[in-house]
Amino acid sequence: MERKKVTIPDLLRMKQESKKITMLTAYDFPMSVVLEKAGIDIILVGDSLGNVVLGYDSTVPVTMDEMIHHTKAVNRGRKKSLLVGDMPFMSFNVTARKTIINAGRFIKEAGADAVKLEGANPDIVSIIKSVVRAGIPVMGHLGLTPQTATMLGGYKVQGREPEAADSIMRQAIALEKAGCFSIVFECIPETLAEAITKRLKIPTIGIGAGKGCDGQVLVTHDMLGLYVGFTPKFVKKYADLSKQIDSAIENFRKEVLAGKFPAPEHCFKTK
Ligand code: KIV
Repeated sequence: MERKKVTIPDLLRMKQESKKITMLTAYDFPMSVVLEKAGIDIILVGDSLGNVVLGYDSTVPVTMDEMIHHTKAVNRGRKKSLLVGDMPFMSFNVTARKTIINAGRFIKEAGADAVKLEGANPDIVSIIKSVVRAGIPVMGHLGLTPQTATMLGGYKVQGREPEAADSIMRQAIALEKAGCFSIVFECIPETLAEAITKRLKIPTIGIGAGKGCDGQVLVTHDMLGLYVGFTPKFVKKYADLSKQIDSAIENFRKEVLAGKFPAPEHCFKTK
């Protein structure tokens, strides 16, 4: 049976029917084609782009133009997966007007179906309401929010203490009320993620938040072993591609130096 385009009502239905949601990141056309072919429900063009592709040491420097450029490439490779563009730092934290304009660029220019943005302080909740009213679906992101990691004391598990756990629960309820269609929970205790998931009608997607969420997301470069920097505890490496790439490149170099490549089958002859 041909796969249908994934819509927001489909995701809500999946939660109601206890069907797990899969989400992975992509930053370019070839990876988008692979995720689409595998039937991944949601493709996220994460601002993790900054770390795993652009070589920045955090997500903070990522710009709107960089996100739009990569989201356009990913959009060309997907057909049925829902495409979410991640709003970079300061593209949504200033005013509702600026946020709607930037979120609108993801939809109109880059072809995304929805945007994701981090945090849930009262200003951000109010901005999310305006973006949703403008007709743009929003995915929230709570727990460890990498764009503001410095304020959270670094890249640490959030919500371990009862007060912090209550605060994340309240923020999640506020995001649901503001109109978010889903929320990512990053690096929070499994029991907390499960309790919030049960409390909300909208689906939750976990990364380092245990099995109790409605879906799971990973940074594709981490799970494929393509990114050689720090690997968080919550990442399962499904492949170790950087080792295979190292060996392929080394073989190419050796064969060129030894005159073994190109071989006759790689060469053209005159008639
Ligand atoms: O930027 C990103 O890749 C993300 C995921 C970790 C959810 O926000």
